[in-house]
Amino acid sequence: MNRNGRNMKFEKLSKKESFPYEFLLLADPSKELVDKYLKQSDVFVAIQNGETVGVVVLFPITMVEAEIKNIAVKPALEGQGIGSYLIKNVIKTAKQRKYQKLSIGTANSSIGPLYLYQKHGFEITDIIKWFFINNYPEPIYEDGLQAKHMIILTKDLTK
Ligand code: ACO
Repeated sequence: MNRNGRNMKFEKLSKKESFPYEFLLLADPSKELVDKYLKQSDVFVAIQNGETVGVVVLFPITMVEAEIKNIAVKPALEGQGIGSYLIKNVIKTAKQRKYQKLSIGTANSSIGPLYLYQKHGFEITDIIKWFFINNYPEPIYEDGLQAKHMIILTKDLTK
């Protein structure tokens, strides 16, 4: 169950299923970058009443560290706890897979995600300066704030 009280399921997409780009491109506007990490990642979806309502992508960095490359919720259903549901379940999956560290990178302008990740125990561990200026062809703005730097947050899964 999520906060809106409806039944939710967390499922891994099989390699045969098509990727939910309408979600993935909400979190990362570059299809080229998305396609690069999808090849090596597992894609999980949140299903509510038979409908995909969110997606989260888990990418293995090493044997002991994984990264959440992408997380997105259906825009009409934001703020109902689906993002938290995805984070909790991907943390659980990463622990089951014996990863010791889980990291996630987001823009300095992504205020909602920065709040969400810290609420779920991620700590800011690094900043990649000018990442969004150097890697995206068009300027990206969120709520009038330009995405410039990548903030890396990490959760210790051994605790
Ligand atoms: N400012 C402050 N707090 C916020 C904001 C905001 N803009 N947005 C959400 N929150 C808070 C909520 O109030 C809630 O707090 P609470 O648990 O204390 O009540 C908490 O964040 C989580 O809210 P949820 O309802 O669980 O999150 P939601 O279902 O809305 O999903 C998400 C969050 C995934 C970031 C969604 O807004 C989304 O899809 N955004 C567009 C895509 C995106 O930006 N993805 C992240 C990019 S980074 C990456 O993918 C690695």
